[in-house]
Amino acid sequence: MATIEFSKCAKSFGSANILKGIDLEVAAGEFLVLVGPSGCGKSTLLRTLAGLETLDAGEIKIDGKVINNTEPQDRNIAMVFQSYALYPHMTVEENMGFGLKLQGLASSEISKRVKEIGDLLQISPLLTRRPKELSGGQRQRVALGRALARQTPVILFDEPLSNLDAHLRTQMRVEIKRLHQNSKSTMIYVTHDQMEATTMGDRIAVLKDGVIEQVGTPTEIYHRPKNMFIASFIGSPEMNFIEGKTVSKLPWPEAQKADQVLGVRPENFKINNGSLGSQEVALGDYTVELSENLGGQQMLHGHLDGQPIRMITDSIDKFSTGQKLPLKIDLTKAHLFDKKTGENQRL
Ligand SMILES: Nc1ncnc2c1ncn2[C@@H]1O[C@H](COP(=O)(O)OP(=O)(O)OP(=O)(O)O)[C@@H](O)[C@H]1O
Ligand SMILES: [Mg+2]
Repeated sequence: MATIEFSKCAKSFGSANILKGIDLEVAAGEFLVLVGPSGCGKSTLLRTLAGLETLDAGEIKIDGKVINNTEPQDRNIAMVFQSYALYPHMTVEENMGFGLKLQGLASSEISKRVKEIGDLLQISPLLTRRPKELSGGQRQRVALGRALARQTPVILFDEPLSNLDAHLRTQMRVEIKRLHQNSKSTMIYVTHDQMEATTMGDRIAVLKDGVIEQVGTPTEIYHRPKNMFIASFIGSPEMNFIEGKTVSKLPWPEAQKADQVLGVRPENFKINNGSLGSQEVALGDYTVELSENLGGQQMLHGHLDGQPIRMITDSIDKFSTGQKLPLKIDLTKAHLFDKKTGENQRL
């Protein structure tokens, strides 16, 4: 197991500052998920750790040892790229075993590991094919297998499941997590997928414009987002933001100033049947515009005080367009943000 430490890491391409002083510590054996909008620097950060980009400033340590000047092949890091980067002239089996061969493992041991990982990733029937004879999803699994087979102390994943269909994705998510639990590797995993981020991560780091905005467990990030960006980025469907007179109904002392935004996740609006708990506040009437059946729940689209709101309800009632619903919220599940800075004012 290896610890990873980024301190004040900076990287520019030409005049564009891509990483702006990244400080991040990853514990030995941790599964850290890195999320953020397209172009925020996620791949660049992984590539500096793998040694595929050099830093302009700052330090990266593995197990306390600075590796800035260590050659990529000497860093003992496996990486699954966004593009699979398979060797086109090698079979699936050779691709997966290549790193192990370089490590000098006996061919019987290589075959054994390739077979194990191949079974887990459901690519064993493809071992004799070449990459061009595979679908995108199959190539992606070979790339995963190649990295996992090496059992390096550090494994980096750059959106490794993005080309798989929803069913396989869910399955692979669980397999990677299982592999992590049974391995000693420290893993950093980049994804755009909310479910992957919250289900797989021991912690999540949210990156925006080359700056780490928050690092925390999925529960912390979901329930205690530091600002509106994080609140809207994590969680699907997104948190609702409500301004204006609704805010003045809140009993919080912080809510009496101007320019504030109430944040409520879609599942945290309740229909007000008249009785309010000690932490509950009535918000007034919601007007239903459209209801979507999600199976076990319904998502309602509508508005409150003229502002668009999406809410999720367990109710099996049929809702009609124009119907009014009195709403309430539990204050312990609501957030108050400063409209100008976006900061969460109740942390
Ligand atoms: N070699 C390069 N030369 C110039 N600009 C680059 C280079 N590599 C990356 N960039 C730029 O740096 C920024 C960050 O790129 P990066 O690939 O790290 O983003 P990302 O967060 O991984 O995005 P995505 O989610 O789309 O993969 C982008 O604006 C990109 O265009
Ligand atoms: Mg990327």
